[in-house]
Amino acid sequence: MLDGKKVLFSGMQATGNITLGNYMGALKNWIDLNNDDSYQCFNCVVDLHSLTVRQDPAELRKRARTLLSLYIAAGLDPVKNCIYYQSHVSGHAELSWILNCFTYMGELSRMTQFKDKSAKHADNINAGLFTYPVLMAADILLFQTDVVPVGADQKQHLEITRDIAERFNGVYGDVFTIPEPYIGKVGAKIMSLQEPDKKMSKSDENVNATIYLMDDPDTVIRKFKRAVTDSDNEIRYTDEKPGIKNLIDIYSAVTNKTAGEVEREFDGKGYGDFKLAVGEAVNSVLVPIHQRMDELSKDKAYIDGIIKENSDKANYFATKTLRKVQKKIGLPERVR
Ligand code: TYM
Repeated sequence: MLDGKKVLFSGMQATGNITLGNYMGALKNWIDLNNDDSYQCFNCVVDLHSLTVRQDPAELRKRARTLLSLYIAAGLDPVKNCIYYQSHVSGHAELSWILNCFTYMGELSRMTQFKDKSAKHADNINAGLFTYPVLMAADILLFQTDVVPVGADQKQHLEITRDIAERFNGVYGDVFTIPEPYIGKVGAKIMSLQEPDKKMSKSDENVNATIYLMDDPDTVIRKFKRAVTDSDNEIRYTDEKPGIKNLIDIYSAVTNKTAGEVEREFDGKGYGDFKLAVGEAVNSVLVPIHQRMDELSKDKAYIDGIIKENSDKANYFATKTLRKVQKKIGLPERVR
């Protein structure tokens, strides 16, 4: 709790272009959850996590700034939400080191994301890739977080965060709040438009598989028209029709209609009509974001101000937790 409100923390990597999956599984929920002001929110651009894969320096810097602007363009109010870069708050890396000493090799080697990423980057299986979940635990625990809105793929990372926190608290008393994941009912796992049994991903080689948040309206419609479905022509929400199920999920997330309502709306209509409707519904969300991004890109001083102010605020709260932890584990106190 912070100032009588629950704490919400979440973040996104500054690698690649943000996808519709990132928006529906995470960003949209960050915005929706804070509509009624009931949370103190920390929305982080996790640029340190991006280093586990080799990055072009200029490109990383540009993407991190674009992502921070995108948070605002999508609807996060930078006054109510603390929007900042992970690398501007050194407490993340410091707490991560301490928590490394409370995390076991065995539990880290069971992480599915580690296994997937090691297979994908076999030439660069670095220690950062292995301890990635510990830095993520530090991100969350640093702010005494109550709730972490993420997509379904992050569930395992939330579980290990809770395990580390409980282990630490077991030794030193109630130092950390134990965070709860918030995984939305709709949109928690948006699938590839080309292989609907695979998660929609930033790094898919097939450009038609992924909707990027900055795709222009024609591209969005074209990708939805090409979306893989099945040979039947019935719009029904079932695991037997993964392509259609995914399109219904996307349509539901945008329109707030249930799967049943979507089935009824498109009863008797063909896949062509449905795909076009999904594309148009998605564009109705993306176009205003593009307009806002355009405005923000012209206001360098405004974004710089947010970066400065919010990193100060995040540093203040992070330092409070860090000092408490340092004291508990016996590191020497600072002399003023
Ligand atoms: P990242 O950057 O891969 O993804 C950001 C968020 O988007 C969600 N997501 C999806 N949701 C639905 N469908 C999809 N196809 C899809 N793809 C991605 C992810 O679940 C995530 O919520 N490790 C994290 C970043 C992180 C973090 C944190 C998150 C670092 N520290 C602390 C929360 C709290 C990650 O790689 O997310």
